[in-house]
Amino acid sequence: MKIIVAGTGYVGLVHAAVCSEYGHEVYAYDNDINKINAFSSGQAEKIEQYVNEPGLAGIIKETVGKYLFFSSDLKAIIEGADAIFLCLPTPPNLNGSTNLVFYDAAAEDIAQVLAERKDGRRVVLVNKSTVPIGTARHLQEIIKGHNVENFGVASNPEFLAEGTAVTQARKPDRVVVGCDHEADFKILCRVYSQFVNHVRIKYIETTPETAEAIKYVANTMLLTYISFWNGVGAKIGENFSNVRIDDLRLGVTADDRISTWGSFVSNGAGGSCFGKDIASLIYQLRSVNVSTKMLEASYEVNEYQKVYLIERAITEAAFKFNNRTIAVLGLAFKKHTNDMRDASSIKVIESLLGKGVARVKVYDPLANESAKHVFDPSQNILFEKIEYYETARKAVEESDAVFVSSDCEEFRGLSRTIEEAVPPPYLVMDGRRMIPDFEELIAKGYSYLAVGAVAMTPENKV
Ligand code: UDX
Repeated sequence: MKIIVAGTGYVGLVHAAVCSEYGHEVYAYDNDINKINAFSSGQAEKIEQYVNEPGLAGIIKETVGKYLFFSSDLKAIIEGADAIFLCLPTPPNLNGSTNLVFYDAAAEDIAQVLAERKDGRRVVLVNKSTVPIGTARHLQEIIKGHNVENFGVASNPEFLAEGTAVTQARKPDRVVVGCDHEADFKILCRVYSQFVNHVRIKYIETTPETAEAIKYVANTMLLTYISFWNGVGAKIGENFSNVRIDDLRLGVTADDRISTWGSFVSNGAGGSCFGKDIASLIYQLRSVNVSTKMLEASYEVNEYQKVYLIERAITEAAFKFNNRTIAVLGLAFKKHTNDMRDASSIKVIESLLGKGVARVKVYDPLANESAKHVFDPSQNILFEKIEYYETARKAVEESDAVFVSSDCEEFRGLSRTIEEAVPPPYLVMDGRRMIPDFEELIAKGYSYLAVGAVAMTPENKV
């Protein structure tokens, strides 16, 4: 099949690369010429400057120029296309609704080019990015407005998690395809022939609106599950001494019906999807006058979870933040990524600055550079108090407390680093329960405050 992928962000590039592996002729289109040049080079260093996903650069290197082509000229690649996948950024507006500015602009460009094509063969425009229920219909109107003939619209949401996107794109648990016409289902069946009639992969054909809704319900369900553990499990561990949260998790998730994923209590879930999608679904349901109590609770628990350890430090460990130096370890929203979108660390650092800390010493193995764009001192003068370090040890030195905000494996060795770098009294705030040997820290006079457990100070060892 001849496939066009419009938008070479994290979703589009992974999709284009994996489709090219299956022998389709894939043209990845983006209006950012720098990206196009970087990807066309097939060189890992250049590709990973934009999208750093394990295994991705390797596929591009293998298929570029054979099955995979990059272009910023839509006209030059449009003839003969069977499917055009729209993989565009859909950021949130302040009120939670989805901003379709980039999406609409790309749809207009595609419509104009389609109107002028000569081949006249059936082409299906497929939404891959997460878009509000009804967007495929909206796309249909845009394309119709340009008198394009013989086209269909479809919704085919992606369910990839960052860090494992390539593996998941090669072996998804399900492929959801929503179309209006048999001809369009047929085209997508050929695009995804390796997944149709698969023994394990569920290939689900439905309406475009259902496919759009599946994505929102899936992501809100996952966030609700995390919020359930953070809002119920963690709170039990924090308020009843002698309740061990890890054993609680094991005992509950021993039931096959209850998932282990999501039961790891944390200082909130971040990333490009969860917060944005639940906010969008709340907005969509409110627009049709539906009560959204449950979704609001999931969202609020998650947002509060990001910063409440700082409040607990004040009330439970009598810690004073004013004029102190705090180390923050783990800036990205999870390990193995430099993605800062909706990362808990943003709320943590803003809250620390709001409490009048003198310095924030930060470290992340991958995200220091992307964090500098988020904490831009020209946007907020307080961000000048943030200092970036190349190791956890350097960030911890000369600090009065540390906040662990992501689940990078190296933080498991943090107690040793702390003991060597700073003497007690010292407060460790563990948002990810990354320090298994915390009891040794307490024995040596440090204080330890973790999600899911009562505060432990030398006075209150429990
Ligand atoms: C997520 C969904 O998993 C994916 O299906 C969807 O398509 C996009 O959003 P991603 O954002 O890449 O993927 O991250 P994921 O690995 O799911 O983690 C999301 C957040 O939840 C992270 O901050 C993670 O640390 C946190 N998390 C995850 C927990 O706090 N506890 C857990 O038990 C699991």
